[in-house]
Amino acid sequence: MTRKLFVTTALPYANAAFHIGHMMEYIQADIWVRFQRMRGAEVNFVCADDAHGAPIMIAAEKAGKTPQAFVAEIAAGRKAYLDGFHIGFDNWHSTDAPENHALAREIYLALRKNELIDVRTIEQFFDPVKGMFLPDRYIKGECPRCGAKDQYGDNCEVCGAVYQPTELRNPYSVLSGAKPELRTSEHYFFRLSDPRCVEYLKNWTQDGKLQSEVANKVKEWFAEDADGKTQLGDWDISRDAPYFGIEIPDAPGKFFYVWLDAPIGYLASLKHLLARRGQSMEAYLADPELRQVHFIGKDIVTFHTLFWPAMLHFSGRKVPNNVYVHGFITVGGDKMSKSRGTGISPLRYLELGLDAQWLRYYIAAKLNARVEDIEFNPEDFIARVNADLVGKYVNIASRAAGFIGKRFKGMLSRDLGVEGRVLLDGLRAHGPAIVQLYDDREYGKAVREIMLLADRVNEYVDQHKPWELAKQKGQEQALHDVCSVCIEAFRVLTIYLKPILPALAAQVEAFLQVGPMAFADAQRALGAHRIGEFKHLMQRVDPAQVEALFAAGAAAEPVAPPPGGEELAAEIGIDDFAKVDLRIAKIVAAERVDGSTKLLKLTLDVGEGRTRQVFSGIASAYAPEQLAGKLTVMVANLAPRKMKFGVSEGMVLAASHADEKAHPGLYVLEPWPGAQPGLRVR
Ligand code: MSP
Ligand code: ZN
Repeated sequence: MTRKLFVTTALPYANAAFHIGHMMEYIQADIWVRFQRMRGAEVNFVCADDAHGAPIMIAAEKAGKTPQAFVAEIAAGRKAYLDGFHIGFDNWHSTDAPENHALAREIYLALRKNELIDVRTIEQFFDPVKGMFLPDRYIKGECPRCGAKDQYGDNCEVCGAVYQPTELRNPYSVLSGAKPELRTSEHYFFRLSDPRCVEYLKNWTQDGKLQSEVANKVKEWFAEDADGKTQLGDWDISRDAPYFGIEIPDAPGKFFYVWLDAPIGYLASLKHLLARRGQSMEAYLADPELRQVHFIGKDIVTFHTLFWPAMLHFSGRKVPNNVYVHGFITVGGDKMSKSRGTGISPLRYLELGLDAQWLRYYIAAKLNARVEDIEFNPEDFIARVNADLVGKYVNIASRAAGFIGKRFKGMLSRDLGVEGRVLLDGLRAHGPAIVQLYDDREYGKAVREIMLLADRVNEYVDQHKPWELAKQKGQEQALHDVCSVCIEAFRVLTIYLKPILPALAAQVEAFLQVGPMAFADAQRALGAHRIGEFKHLMQRVDPAQVEALFAAGAAAEPVAPPPGGEELAAEIGIDDFAKVDLRIAKIVAAERVDGSTKLLKLTLDVGEGRTRQVFSGIASAYAPEQLAGKLTVMVANLAPRKMKFGVSEGMVLAASHADEKAHPGLYVLEPWPGAQPGLRVR
């Protein structure tokens, strides 16, 4: 039976570029997803930007942008990181997308119908200058216990006291410096203390779907006091305008607190992905075989193991099957805090020419299934990549490939000799254990196993010394066998490492002239098979590169936004470009389209002895009269598309910014004088 998996990572706040902590989470999940696919699972792997909340609204205001434009700019920067580190999400979406607005309302209304929503009046500090209620983080004052100045509204960093913002002495607004006033406001609460919720969550969190350390920590919430009450308080899910978020139905001026709509973004991203394929999310999630798995960091456990399953269950939806929690990666002992963003910059890493797969390998080698922090240590990184990854594994191929190519025309030997067969059987015998380790997210152990197997192969090579066999007369067969064993061993090890090193594995597949390798392929010998030409597979780390990564200023993220608001698309070859047939077209006529404010109907002459009809979304920028008689450029071999208003037979080229709201403007292309309809643009 095919495994079906819906996998997510936490949705990053859309207020900053990724740091290495994000990359670690994506690498952990990506390895797991690639592994599952390699053994035949059907996986949908999605993420999205977490767009809402007061901090993003305030940051956007500071930057002089609308929150929408602000998060769109952050979103446009994501691709470079994800592609750069081979993170294969099937979809990247936003919690501000229409799907999420709709789903958040639906879920809320279902909870309300289920009598789990309460409205209560609370007292909160209000900034009279900014005209808004202040989140705890935006109020400072003197600690009520020790008198320390400039302490946050929820706790004192000097004496450690925890208190309510209303207890601060001489409080002031961080936003305006004004003295905040206490005001009352109606807030909406999710009644987590309802016995139905408590009962349900007690069971949900303790029935084996969480790591035991996580389950134990979460258990503390259910400890009862003398009155039989648990610590599971009701959850304040509303915020007052102004707020960048989703408006609560039937509650003007009230918005969902960002953590209510954030996890719903998992579903919104999935829905958006499935809709593109013409699939229904509801039907997909109704499949009892489908497992829903969330990868998250240790700081957001409560949201994912209490609030999120309760929201889903009590709105009549599927709940997660697993929440896998990881620790934090630190660089030089310093935690990459959300606010400070220290550490090494992932983009800088790529710019300096460091191989993304080195980091994937290093992180994999350090990860286990527990909630442990891991440390990025530069010396350790260099040692593991150079000594293990390149020295032990990659080298196996280079030790044998040359002989197979030069002496045996690329053919592998069918008979591998007794010792060779024993070696390979041993490698294959470890397959099931390695599969289990990947499935359990024990990547460090898997890597250790694989490197021990690589040691065995290298011992075999050292014993049989192909470079000496090559010099001796009458040793042709032995040389052929030994080198073929090496290549076959290298193939098996590559399969074992493929979830971690996807790009390298693809190079190896090309070299071996085999299709995409799955785990099952490790168990079958290649036999007599012709392999391709060996090309250098992977460099060693140059310590100078790592030094540059840590050099002063290296941690700073590039400030320049990408051109036109989006990163360049993946590189293509000239052949790819040639597939797009661009022609000069004359706009014979242009008309408005009844029922559409966006489209113009163009009649185009491409020198074919007939005209074409093209619907173009340029009505916001051009009046039909401006266009008639002009020359432009069109995609002439685009498959005709049936639209609501008729068939469109091509596409006219126009330039625009990725964020059209923040940077309006649309510019149709026009050739220099002299061009004639039908000429090809190349
Ligand atoms: N927006 C929320 C999550 C909403 S999920 C519905 C959030 N965003 S975040 O950008 O602060 O963090 C995103 C993920 O990165 C979280 O899982 C967090 O634990 C993880 N990490 C943040 N710093 C990290 C490290 N230093 N190391 C590893 N993971 C870290 O929280
Ligand atoms: Zn104090």
